[in-house]
Amino acid sequence: MSAKVLLVYYSYTGQTQKVLDAAADVLRERGCEVTLAPIEFVDPQYSEPFTRFPMRRVWPDMFSVFKAQGRGETGEIRTPDAVRAGDYDLVLFGSPTWWDTVSMPLRSFLESKEAGPLLNGTPYAVITVCRRYWRKNLEAVRELADKQGGRFVDSIHFEYPGGQLTSMLSLTSYLGSGEYRDRYLGVKIPTTNISAAQVDQARAFAGRLADRLFDGK
Ligand SMILES: Cc1cc2nc3c(=O)[nH]c(=O)nc-3n(C[C@H](O)[C@H](O)[C@H](O)COP(=O)(O)O)c2cc1C
Repeated sequence: MSAKVLLVYYSYTGQTQKVLDAAADVLRERGCEVTLAPIEFVDPQYSEPFTRFPMRRVWPDMFSVFKAQGRGETGEIRTPDAVRAGDYDLVLFGSPTWWDTVSMPLRSFLESKEAGPLLNGTPYAVITVCRRYWRKNLEAVRELADKQGGRFVDSIHFEYPGGQLTSMLSLTSYLGSGEYRDRYLGVKIPTTNISAAQVDQARAFAGRLADRLFDGK
């Protein structure tokens, strides 16, 4: 019997998707039955800026969820049937940081009635993806997943290059244009987003998870 793994994640610009795809490939190579479960953010109040890329007006669009994130609000989401179907040996969460914590779409799933049956006694791991701030995101995911009965196994985080200012300029330039530029507002900026080296790290992380959980299965 092959181990069953479910990848539950939200991804607006595809960065979280990129590292989870890499992890999924490795888990499949290791004989696991892997199912991807992207969360769709469909909230009538908050999802509109995230229905298109690049953002239309980057700062107002980013700030559109600022207060809601600070209050830990949940919103309307849609999830694939796989989250309601069957027992999994591992659930892997992909969690981009929004305003220093877990994004509303993933929080909404973790606080939903569906998360209980999925996580009850199930090992889970967390991949956080962010410009810089991963710790509170991870803590929030762990707190919510633990509350639903999940058993934390491991985590990894990915940050984008640059210092506080340059990484922010680079990310906002990208979110507002969909392009990688050398300069933004006259400042030289590093390339934002997940790098090829980080994709390799995600593969190695998935390999370690498989060693730990599924060796001999
Ligand atoms: C609304 C919004 C808020 C964000 N807030 C933060 C933040 O507080 N700290 C941080 O490090 N990155 C922040 N980011 C950057 C995201 O974490 C980064 O763009 C994310 O990894 C993209 O992943 P995705 O393409 O899978 O959605 C924010 C991005 C968005 C869109």
